[in-house]
Amino acid sequence: KTYKIAVVNGDGIGNEIVPAGVSIIKEVAKKYNFEVETEDFSWGAGHYVKHGEFMPENGIETLKKFDAIYFGAVGLPEVDDTLPARDYTFKVRTELHQYVNYRPVKLFSGVQSPLRDKTKADIDFIILRENNEGEFVQNGKIFYPDTPNGCAVDTSMVTRLGVERIAHYAFKLARTRGKKVTNVTKSNTLIYSLGFWDKVMQEVADQYPDVEYSKMYVDNASASFVLKPEVFDVIVTTNMIGDILSDLGGAIMGSLGLGGSGNINPEKDFPSMFEPIHGSAPDIAGQNIANPIGQIWSAAIMLEHLGEKAAADNIVEAIEHATTGGDLTKDLKGNASTSEIAERISSFINS
Ligand code: NAI
Ligand code: MG
Repeated sequence: KTYKIAVVNGDGIGNEIVPAGVSIIKEVAKKYNFEVETEDFSWGAGHYVKHGEFMPENGIETLKKFDAIYFGAVGLPEVDDTLPARDYTFKVRTELHQYVNYRPVKLFSGVQSPLRDKTKADIDFIILRENNEGEFVQNGKIFYPDTPNGCAVDTSMVTRLGVERIAHYAFKLARTRGKKVTNVTKSNTLIYSLGFWDKVMQEVADQYPDVEYSKMYVDNASASFVLKPEVFDVIVTTNMIGDILSDLGGAIMGSLGLGGSGNINPEKDFPSMFEPIHGSAPDIAGQNIANPIGQIWSAAIMLEHLGEKAAADNIVEAIEHATTGGDLTKDLKGNASTSEIAERISSFINS
C-alpha cells in the first residue's frame, strides 16, 4: 500500500521538526511494509513574503490529491498575524471539512508534569475541538475605527450540523475509552450560540445512554485541568475554547512542544491534516533546540488515521523510550538538541 503525503513545513521551527518527523515516517513505513510518497510545499508566511500569498490559489485543490497532510505551523513575526489562520490553517481545516480537531493529552514516561502529584493514569484524556465554525469564522466588522465612536463586532457561528457531527464523533470515541464525555462551554453567558450548542449536544447525548455525559463551564474546566485532570476522558468543546484548553493541556503534559494533533475529516472524503498543537515558535527557531515530540506524535496520529496502527503504536513507544532516562530538550529543562531526540526515537524504531 502507498500513501501520498503532502508535507508543509510552514515557518520557524517547522523547518526543523517536520523533516525530523518525515524521516521517522519513512523508517516505520519500511519496517511495517508500506510505502510513503511525500511531496514538499514551501507554503506559509515565508511564502507570503516572497509571493504575497500563503499558498497558491489552487492550493486546496492540490492538497485534495493526497491521502494526508503533514504540517508544522505557519506565522512569522514580520508578517501580519491575522493572516496565518485566514489564509492557511482555518482555510484548510474548513475547505477540507476537517471538523474534528483531535488533541490527546497524556503524560509520557520520564516527563515531569508541573502537576507534581499526578501520574500517567491521571493525565490521559482527549480534547475534541470543533474546528470549522464557532468563534473563529472571522465574520465581523470594525466601525469608525479612528473616531471616538469606534466599535467592533465578531460573529460566533454555531450550526446544528456542526454540533451534531462533532458530538457523534465524541460519543463514539468515548465508547472506545472511558465512556465519559464532558461538554465544555460558557453557555451560562454566551446564551444564544452556546445555549444552542448545549441543546443539540444533549439531543445527541440521549442517543448514547451507555456514555456518561456532563457539562462543565470553561472557567471550572481550566481549574480542573490543574487540580483534577483525572475527571476527564473525552472533552468536546468549541473552536476557541479548545484552542486555549489545548495549550493548557500541553502545559500539564510538561511542555507545549509535546502536543500532537489531527485535524480530522472523519468521512475521509478529503485528506486530514496532522500538526503539533503549538505554533512556529520564532523565538527559538533555527537553533536546533525545539522539542520535536509533538510533531513526531502527530505523525503517529496520522498513520493511525490511515490505518497503520502498528506503525503508529511503534512511534508512540519510541517516544516513550526517548523520554525515559535520557536528556530532554530545553523546554523540559534539559540540554538535548532537536536532532538528538529525533535520533533517539529513530534508533529505537530501527533496533
Ligand atoms: P507558539 O506555540 O509558537 O510558542 C509559544 C511558546 O512555546 C514559545 O515560547 C515557544 O518557544 C514555545 N514552544 C512552542 N513549541 C515548542 C517546541 N516544539 N519546543 C519548545 N518550545 C516550544 O505560539 P506563539 O508564540 O503564540 O505564536 C508564534 C507564531 O505561530 C505566531 O505567528 C502564531 O500566529 C503562529 N501559530 C501558528 C499555529 C498554526 O500554524 N497551527 C498555531 C499557533 C500559533
Ligand atoms: Mg493554538
